[in-house]
Amino acid sequence: MIIKSIKLRNVRTYEEEEVRLPEGIILFEGGIGAGKSTLLLAIEFALFGLGNEKGTTLLSIGKNSGSVELTFETGGKEVKVHRGLERGKRAAGAKAGSLHQGRLVPAGVKQSDCWIEVDGVRASYSPSEMKEQVLRILNYNEPMDPKAKSVIFRYAVYTPQEEMKEILSQPPDLRLQTIRKALRIEEYKTAMENAKAIAVDLRKEAEYIRKGAERLPEIQEEIRDIEESLPEREADLQRLNAEVEKVEGEIVALKERREKLQAELLARAKDAEGVQQIELDLQKARKEISELERKIATNKRRLEELRARIKAIKPAEEPPMSEEEVEGMLDEAKARLSGYDTELGRLKAELDNVKALVMKGYCPTCKRPIDGAEYATHLQEAEAKYEEARRKRQETAEEIRDLERARAEIADYAKKKGQLDGLEETATEVEDGIFDAEHRLEEAKASERDLSDRRAKAAKAAEAEVEAARPLAGRI
Ligand SMILES: Nc1ncnc2c1ncn2[C@@H]1O[C@H](COP(=O)(O)OP(=O)(O)O)[C@@H](O)[C@H]1O
Ligand SMILES: [Mg+2]
Repeated sequence: MIIKSIKLRNVRTYEEEEVRLPEGIILFEGGIGAGKSTLLLAIEFALFGLGNEKGTTLLSIGKNSGSVELTFETGGKEVKVHRGLERGKRAAGAKAGSLHQGRLVPAGVKQSDCWIEVDGVRASYSPSEMKEQVLRILNYNEPMDPKAKSVIFRYAVYTPQEEMKEILSQPPDLRLQTIRKALRIEEYKTAMENAKAIAVDLRKEAEYIRKGAERLPEIQEEIRDIEESLPEREADLQRLNAEVEKVEGEIVALKERREKLQAELLARAKDAEGVQQIELDLQKARKEISELERKIATNKRRLEELRARIKAIKPAEEPPMSEEEVEGMLDEAKARLSGYDTELGRLKAELDNVKALVMKGYCPTCKRPIDGAEYATHLQEAEAKYEEARRKRQETAEEIRDLERARAEIADYAKKKGQLDGLEETATEVEDGIFDAEHRLEEAKASERDLSDRRAKAAKAAEAEVEAARPLAGRI
């Protein structure tokens, strides 16, 4: 910071004054009370405010307002700092002030119209903001306490009269801490350590470079060798490049072949599934063939048995009469027989009567003797009648027997006919079954032949593929 000028208005003994400071070392000379300390105090006030100081110590007695404006250079910039002082009309805190009016001070003099101008650009601040801004501009590394003045300024720039004693009499650790902080000694320490570490690295690098330099002739020799063998190596390179090109071509061809084979493999896998299916179908067909053959043989045997039985049962001839006709004739013959029986009973009684008359020789009713010759004729006639009736009865009985036999024969015929019909029906069924099975057998055999053929073809095709793939084995 280089202070250029200081303008004062109503500050202690100064009414309206601008003090310009030339570059170099400045000495204020004057008698006691001339206003030397006032200039220094005004500089500090402009920069950092009042701190614990009272406004009344700066504002001229009898004046209601004053100001200090300090112009200085820092970091290549021109900075103006302005603070005003105003005497309050009422008690402290009675009136709320605007931002620019600042805070009230106990003695009734408050700061006002605070601003900073950097390279001609002005900005207004509150008194406490002012201090913050100034510390930033001056690059003072210390906490912002609006109540205190700048410690660094006090120790390093300006120590008011009689106050050096205070600094010197501070406890040593507090003093050291303050000075360290103010002068950023910690930062320098870190910087020093960093510098040391970098120095070590640099030394190592230097050593490495030095060693490299030592090997320079050797390396140059190597370079010469390499340069000499360059044409030979270039020829090698060309040869190798040609080889690489050739091999790359081969790789492309092989990749294409591999893709084709993979596609075929996929198709083959599908075919393999087909072959499996053929195998299954073939097994099924063969099983069906053997089952059908067995069934046909069994049924043929059965048919032979049935035919033998049919032959054995076959009735000689169909009866000439029906069962109903025979039944009717039987009924009629039996009625006739019964008639003959009655007739025979009557004739027997008559015969017995004639016989008894002949034996007795007279009529039991009229007691007259009977004519022997006449009665002999009667007897003969009665015997003849009886005999005739008996013969007829005999004939009828034989007729009935014949009819009954015929009836039995008819029944037997009917029974056999029933059996035969049943057997013949079964035989027809069996024959139909055989026919059907034979038809199916033909079909199954045809299917078996077809499947065997397809299987053989598939196997042959697979073998051919394997043969085709063999020359590529181990190359991809
Ligand atoms: N509030 C004030 N108003 C007007 N004059 C003041 C005020 N306070 C102190 N003074 C006067 O200011 C002068 C102080 O001058 P100062 O700067 O201390 O002189 P020195 O040159 O000895 O350092 C004294 O004459 C003193 O009477
Ligand atoms: Mg003095």
